[in-house]
Amino acid sequence: MVQATPFFLLLFLALGADGVSAEKCSLMGHWINDLGSNMTIESVNANGDFTGTYYTAVSVHPVKVEKSPLLGSQHVSDQPNHQPTFGFTVHWTFSDSIAVFTGQCFVDDGKEVLKTMWLLRSHVDELRDDWKATRVGYNEFKRLE
Ligand code: BTN
Repeated sequence: MVQATPFFLLLFLALGADGVSAEKCSLMGHWINDLGSNMTIESVNANGDFTGTYYTAVSVHPVKVEKSPLLGSQHVSDQPNHQPTFGFTVHWTFSDSIAVFTGQCFVDDGKEVLKTMWLLRSHVDELRDDWKATRVGYNEFKRLE
């Protein structure tokens, strides 16, 4: 019995560690990216659809930024250690533009990281300005504890 204790302790730790990592890469919660923008994902339903809010640290024009709604979708899986791909749209409430993000959640050294790329479509008044209306970029998000 005395010898069995370390075995069960190790088993518990191994299963426990797996359990913890299975919990990881849930998109729900508060995130901050490399620009200092804050994002909150409020709920993810069984289909992987989610809603949230985005508070950007930067904007194209010097305006007062506002918290803006986002709508997204992620792949769901029963697999432990699932690192889901996802996408979401941010409907900026303080500008005429729309951003779409696509990415994947990874667990790196026990910490979740969201690797994303985005397209930001700005409004232009004329067709001849279409060529300059879309920006592209990359953001990395970390969970705010
Ligand atoms: C606008 O300026 O028209 C709306 C704000 C755009 C903010 C962009 S979206 C991509 C990039 N990542 C961020 O966190 N903010 C900028």
